[in-house]
Amino acid sequence: MCGIIGYLGERSAAPIIMDSLKRLEYRGYDSAGVAIFDQDAGDLSVVKSASKVDTLVERLTEEMPAGRVGMGHTRWATHGRPTLINAHPHSDCTNKVVVIHNGIIENFAELRRELQAKRHVFVSETDTEVVPHLIEENFKGDLVTAVRESLRRLRGAYAMVIFSQHDPDLLIGARLNAPLVVGVGEKEWFIASDITAVIPYTKKVLLLGEGEMVAISSLGPQVSSMDGASVKPKIIDVKWDISQAQKGGYPHFMAKEINESADAVSNALRGRLADDGEVTLEEFGFTDRQLLKVRDIKMVAAGTSFYAALLGKYIIEDLARIPVEVEPASEFRYRQPIIDQDTLVVGISQSGETADTLAAIREARRLKAKVVSVTNVVGSSMALESDGVVYLHSGPEIGVASSKTFIAHITCLYLLGIRLAAVRHRLDPTRLKQLTAELKALPAAVQKVLDRAEVLQKLARKYAGYRNFMYIGRGINYPIALEGALKLKEISYLHAEGYAAGELKHGPIALLDKNFPVFAIATQGATLEKMVSNIQEVIARDAPVAALVTDGDHVLDEVAADRVEVPAVSEFLSPIPNVVALQLFAYFVACERGCNVDQPRNLAKSVTVE
Ligand code: M6R
Repeated sequence: MCGIIGYLGERSAAPIIMDSLKRLEYRGYDSAGVAIFDQDAGDLSVVKSASKVDTLVERLTEEMPAGRVGMGHTRWATHGRPTLINAHPHSDCTNKVVVIHNGIIENFAELRRELQAKRHVFVSETDTEVVPHLIEENFKGDLVTAVRESLRRLRGAYAMVIFSQHDPDLLIGARLNAPLVVGVGEKEWFIASDITAVIPYTKKVLLLGEGEMVAISSLGPQVSSMDGASVKPKIIDVKWDISQAQKGGYPHFMAKEINESADAVSNALRGRLADDGEVTLEEFGFTDRQLLKVRDIKMVAAGTSFYAALLGKYIIEDLARIPVEVEPASEFRYRQPIIDQDTLVVGISQSGETADTLAAIREARRLKAKVVSVTNVVGSSMALESDGVVYLHSGPEIGVASSKTFIAHITCLYLLGIRLAAVRHRLDPTRLKQLTAELKALPAAVQKVLDRAEVLQKLARKYAGYRNFMYIGRGINYPIALEGALKLKEISYLHAEGYAAGELKHGPIALLDKNFPVFAIATQGATLEKMVSNIQEVIARDAPVAALVTDGDHVLDEVAADRVEVPAVSEFLSPIPNVVALQLFAYFVACERGCNVDQPRNLAKSVTVE
């Protein structure tokens, strides 16, 4: 949701905070602000912008505040419109305490009334503003105690950075149900919502646990729980590289990330799939005995990750013959799901921080299920709170719309399927051998799709003027139709729906006419003939058709459709090359329409509120 960064060290804080905010902007871009404290002059500068980080940078470049401690925030609005007054940091009545926050304080209205009764004056509509006022109210000479007492009053979710002129040598961070990490550099420290903000400065990251707070001084970080007990810090070395968080010559992060899809497959497979098909998943953590006990699987996820989970059902049921149910995480947790210790709950999440998915896996653990998370972010909340983890190893994904990590999720689900099948001896050795070889050849097939980007760009030019789209697929490519439609909606703001092709005739076909194109996934597979019939039905309603077909396949030669050829792979693995083509199409349509591809309106990369 919001991006937050705090700095305390020996360098000038403002340029570092600006630079980090640029890298955090994908978390939210409604408004931005900084607070920098100049220890020599005893001055606190607070500068805000009602729009994106760039506007803030322009303002700060004219007059860069001096100081070696400070904080910056980029907002995704929840409480209060994206105005200057609602931009963070927020202050107390004396302007001594400043706070930036990601999350939602659910009891803010009650706290606000209580503080107003004590004559605190509020200037914004935000929930966050209660925090500096609470700290002001609780301050009796010791800042850490005042912060702790204030935090104990809050309900909801928060990751915060707090500074007070009462103790200008301290920078405090705290988290509950929202991510926060501490970058540990050489005599400098960073408190940030995620690792991408700090990787240019340090690879050493302290992972703050749920309900913990960190007080950083020039002596280093002190971690404690909300009741004041000291906590041994968990420090990890991050493998991500700064070049992975830069555009590297591409016009958009999304273009770069789609172009990293072949690597996403290779990185997810690396060291995990032996030539004989044996799968080793490092942090997975389940023994064969535990896996044999798994009676059923529930997958929980949101957005694009939900569609990856739907694919997981096709993959795991086919390979391991274990029944799999897939459910949006936001529904799962509120409907008393039937699970027990023999259920394996698989949480699918790029960020590992999506509030709905995190809450769902917590509920699953409460009900005694075993939980594995498939996620990209090492040390994310879901990774820390699961019994086992499968990491995507995709490197940072900055474009708000997921692309390469969707590919990596699917790749990991193939591996998980093989692992679960192996323990049950469900996989015929010939099929395993063939599948292993095909998986290893997959990056080359993906690269071929990327090499044909121009074809999809031409197609996008032709179709960018339509307002509505229908995506259709069958079998294992049905979730790909759903994801193709979501990608187009998210980044080009065009209406798009995904449907199982066989369902079209049961209702949605009524929508079709010459202004309502259909994108059909018609690559080789068991139901291709049926798909061709569905395409004929569409054409009979005058709807324009674009179709993905397998290289050299003449099945649509006689049909008036725009054909895009994708390399021949087995139907079981075809979702990966197919979705890369659909991602490219959505990307080029969005570019044609002049949309902000990396930062689509109303969205944020990581949704840490329910
Ligand atoms: O980090 P997660 O994978 O848990 O995020 C889930 C969704 O918020 C995410 O997939 C969202 O739908 C993206 N905008 C997809 O492009």
